[in-house]
Amino acid sequence: MTPLKIGMIGLGTVGGGVAKILTQHPDRIERRAQRPIVLQRVAVRDLTKKRDVDLPAEILTDRVQDVIDDPEIDVAVQLIGGTGQAREIMLALLAAGKDVVTANKALLCEHGDELFTRARELGRSIAFEASVAGGIPIIAAFGSALAGNQITSLSGILNGTSNFILTEMADKNQTYEQALRRAQELGYAEADPAMDVDGTDAAQKLVLLSQLAFGVRAAVAEFPCSGIDTLTLEDLKCAADLGYMVKLLAVARLVDNLLEMHVSPTLVRNNLPMADVQGVFNAVKVTGDVVGETWFSGQGAGQLPTASAVLADIVDMAVGRSQLTFPTLDLFGGRTTFSVQPTD
Ligand code: NDP
Ligand code: HSE
Repeated sequence: MTPLKIGMIGLGTVGGGVAKILTQHPDRIERRAQRPIVLQRVAVRDLTKKRDVDLPAEILTDRVQDVIDDPEIDVAVQLIGGTGQAREIMLALLAAGKDVVTANKALLCEHGDELFTRARELGRSIAFEASVAGGIPIIAAFGSALAGNQITSLSGILNGTSNFILTEMADKNQTYEQALRRAQELGYAEADPAMDVDGTDAAQKLVLLSQLAFGVRAAVAEFPCSGIDTLTLEDLKCAADLGYMVKLLAVARLVDNLLEMHVSPTLVRNNLPMADVQGVFNAVKVTGDVVGETWFSGQGAGQLPTASAVLADIVDMAVGRSQLTFPTLDLFGGRTTFSVQPTD
């Protein structure tokens, strides 16, 4: 079978995980992809950096253009953060005729309309399973498995770093600063962890899920969003004394024909399943009018769980099962309407 040649941009936490799986388990991936997957070129910023994955030196480059210009590369796996350079690179990759896999939710949240429109115009695909909830196949669930439903609500823990910090503080008596430092060491946090702890990262993921579930394009600034950055150990102890845990919940639900969205630290009673979601785990409770209530949970950040989601997209691309664009359900007749008061 003709191999699928991929070019990767970024070999950090997530890119390193993808390279490890591709080099350690080529047979498994080939079986699922029905053809060999060849890592043809990998672009990084700093060629002198020590890596925890062994790749032939000749495939590494510090010129993204080498990936863009390589006519043999069919699929580009873009694993860099940020929205400026990442947008330009994604547009150039699409223009060069490549399908793109990405884990960058900030990019899709801010520039998704432009990028998906461009991809559609050029007949290219953008796949983004890893952009929400790490290893949990939640994009696939909304894209296909729950297709027969009108989703009525989704709520959950969508930021692994925040949940990790809350767990370390509540269970291990760690300070906020110690817990955040550990989340950074473990590769869970964003390059700028402010987005993790102020709720922005969870809000960006909620925007993407809401577009898939409700066909509504919200901007983070349009709904209330707060994070865990102002919580103290005292707050968590107080909640525990009353029989609650504090969780950073992201919620989108239909209320009287309006979509209500918010991200905020929330008191969750100890005996509820959401209270059991510990450490870097994420969980999403989805209610659909046909399926009823369903739960998805798993590791929401970190090298291998996120790489697992990226590989799912690469395999989908290899077998021609990739996602072309967001569905346009147009639930609100083109209007985006929000109630802005959290009602929890
Ligand atoms: P890292 O900071 O660990 O890695 C970023 C990589 O991008 C590095 O290898 C860096 O090169 C490379 N890079 C940055 N700019 C350029 C450039 N201009 N040209 C070439 N290479 C460049 O980030 P992560 O792997 O953690 O995250 C990547 C993306 O995945 C982000 O969008 C993040 O939000 C998302 N994500 C991350 C998860 C996680 O658990 N970490 C989970 C889900 C999504 P160099 O190594 O030389 O510095
Ligand atoms: N920084 C993110 C988190 C990575 O902690 O959830 C996964 O998107």
